[in-house]
Amino acid sequence: MKYGSFSNDGREYIITNVATPKPWINYIYNKNYFSTISQNAGSISYYKSPLHGRITRYRINDVPYDRPGKYIYLKDKKTGDYWSLSWQPTGKCKDCYKAIHGFGYTKLLSNVNNISSEVLYFVPLNDDLEIWRVTLENKNDFDIELEIYSYVEFALGHALIDLINQCDDQHFNRVYFERDLNTLFATKTYWVTQNMGTQQQENQEWDRWAFFTSSLTVKEYETLRERFIGVFRNENNPEAIEKGLLSSKDTDFGNAIGGLKSEINLKAGEKKEFVIILGVLEKARFDKLKNSVTKYYDINLVDKAYAEVLAYWDNWFSHIKVDIPDRDAQVFMNYWNQYQAKVAFDVGRVASFYYWGIGRGFGFRDTSQDTIATLIAEPQKAKERIFLLSRQMFKNGKVYHHFYGDGQGETTGHNDDSLWYILAVTEYIKETGDKDILYHKEKFLDGKESTILEHLYAVVKYASEHLGKHNLPIFGRGDWNDTLDYIGGEEGGESVWSAMFYVAMLNSLVELLSFYDIDEKLDEIIELRDKIKNSIEEYAWDGNWYIRAFKGNGEKLGASNNEAGKIFLNPQSWAVIASVGNRERLLKATDSVKELLDTDYGIKICAPAFREIDPEIGLVTRCVAGKKENAAVFCHPYTWGIMAECILKRGNRAYEYYKKILPNRIDSDIFQAEPYVFSQYITSDEHPTAGMASHSWQTGTAAWMFKISIEYILGIRPTYEGLLIDPVIPSEWGQFYVERFFRNTLYKITVENPNHVESGVKEIYVNGKHFDKNVVHDYNKVCEVKVVMG
Ligand code: GLC
Repeated sequence: MKYGSFSNDGREYIITNVATPKPWINYIYNKNYFSTISQNAGSISYYKSPLHGRITRYRINDVPYDRPGKYIYLKDKKTGDYWSLSWQPTGKCKDCYKAIHGFGYTKLLSNVNNISSEVLYFVPLNDDLEIWRVTLENKNDFDIELEIYSYVEFALGHALIDLINQCDDQHFNRVYFERDLNTLFATKTYWVTQNMGTQQQENQEWDRWAFFTSSLTVKEYETLRERFIGVFRNENNPEAIEKGLLSSKDTDFGNAIGGLKSEINLKAGEKKEFVIILGVLEKARFDKLKNSVTKYYDINLVDKAYAEVLAYWDNWFSHIKVDIPDRDAQVFMNYWNQYQAKVAFDVGRVASFYYWGIGRGFGFRDTSQDTIATLIAEPQKAKERIFLLSRQMFKNGKVYHHFYGDGQGETTGHNDDSLWYILAVTEYIKETGDKDILYHKEKFLDGKESTILEHLYAVVKYASEHLGKHNLPIFGRGDWNDTLDYIGGEEGGESVWSAMFYVAMLNSLVELLSFYDIDEKLDEIIELRDKIKNSIEEYAWDGNWYIRAFKGNGEKLGASNNEAGKIFLNPQSWAVIASVGNRERLLKATDSVKELLDTDYGIKICAPAFREIDPEIGLVTRCVAGKKENAAVFCHPYTWGIMAECILKRGNRAYEYYKKILPNRIDSDIFQAEPYVFSQYITSDEHPTAGMASHSWQTGTAAWMFKISIEYILGIRPTYEGLLIDPVIPSEWGQFYVERFFRNTLYKITVENPNHVESGVKEIYVNGKHFDKNVVHDYNKVCEVKVVMG
């Protein structure tokens, strides 16, 4: 079934059937205040960290889905009929509702009993709060008197403690209403700042006050869930709304909520606007700050703040624009892929319908990869993130596998983590030319302030000290693939993919150091790189593809003699990316991918799926076949499959792969996840639910797909020297056009393909003049480039 579609300009996703198979969410946030919001107003809000600073509760994977949220209920005083302004929770009259997700905002629309409504949810750029801007219009030919109830359920602090220690934790809630400010305030007098559930009782309180207010006069309020919802009821049919009475009592115990009741009378045809605001204030400055809670009662200020959010995103998108002969793909390249990549960078794998934000912090490898998505529009943010990553490293080059940014983190035995740092730093310098970053200093976790260059060297040293008997990286507790976690027992086993990844990262480093003549360690790095490269060639070729790993006992995984996991995608694509092997091998390896891994839903991560548990391989074999790392179409490594085809100059095949994985291609009843963003994986043909996607939004797919579609398919790619133009496109394309900012110049690039080739630049003109190479660098504000392929 069809649940929605993109608006004509591609900037909004309009959900016309709000009963989607899973919640279809959006993100509204600024640098401190974050909130998810689904088409049914299901939502989590948090301040800075979803673990330590949870403002509202969200019951993940409960029944019904997607509760609680940011609800507004209307009640017709005369008839007693009541409904919510989002289809859920009351669930009446599904067809009366619509939802629109845009960049930095969501609008929920309804028309129930001829009262039409729009609730616009957004977070201003610079205040720690969210605004629900409500417009009501009475489309009846009679006047109507309405009661308005707004509702949130509070968590107030540490989300894990709220979950696992509710019986104790609810003795520390304080919720009260301040009549003069028309505002309800809520906090907790106890706070845990550890990242785990713990018995350590910290002697402190949550450092925020949450507040909940309305620009309408609050007539009555509620602070306790049991009194609002009632017993044996839920958000569908709150007792307080049925009775039309909130207790207006404060509370210091129990399940804290905010419930506000106001009234509005609407004449026939009349329209009225008001706002509901949920936010947090710093406790230490509470007395000074609390008068500011009414700031956005002024609707003009609300509109100004909203315009600033729209302008922020317009600016973000303005750095790259494409005009290609494929509208479907264009919507992703210009908007939704860029948007998702930025959201993933800002939010991390910590808050979504799938990630609850209590189990882990920011992943080192994930964050390093997400960084590449901000380079074009916000290089400053990428730079700050590189500094943050630098502070998660020990002086021996090992890094926290995931971290909270406040000094807390966890190390694991994954062998690839620290190498991703090279990607973030080198891509940053290619984009900006800011080589001075190499001499900026940040502290190691256990050592003194050291330059970024020294951090890079530490990573290389760490890598060089962890090679196994074939000179390939020791597998440890996993590589990029977290589920290959017991190959080779405690310390043994070797990862062929990691070897290729090391080579690719060392190639990048060699390129950087050579370009800027930093030769202090160059020979050493080249020697290490060549040693690993040669070992791959010597030990990892299986005849038609590269194997995935050596187990501790020397057996191979990802080899033709394996029954399950015979071939893995990653070593084939990274052989190309790392330029190991000769062209003949690379073509064979990638053709094997096409032959053995490609399906209607895309290329699988490996095949055939594991169907028997093998404790000497690990989690992947415990996972159901066809899902996740066990032979699903795993979208993140999929992007590298496309990249490899581009490097091999096979534009038709690269684009075929690209098109297959666009999220709006599969019927939503099968796909289930949002059709406007990439998911972590799509279930493959090895499972009866083939085509079902999961873990949408928060995936490295977003950053890489953005990079690869623009830089490898359209082929407009930053290098140290300038902007490279090297398209690898489907041969049916006759032309395309790209505008891209690069180091303060706007490049307007027209590519023509009169002979319908897949790659190859025949002629290039820069500002009308013939140019003899396809790397351009112009210091003017605007640079016109014309490229003829052939
Ligand atoms: C998840 C993790 C990522 C890992 C991948 C494969 O997406 O966030 O770090 O590389 O799974 O296991």
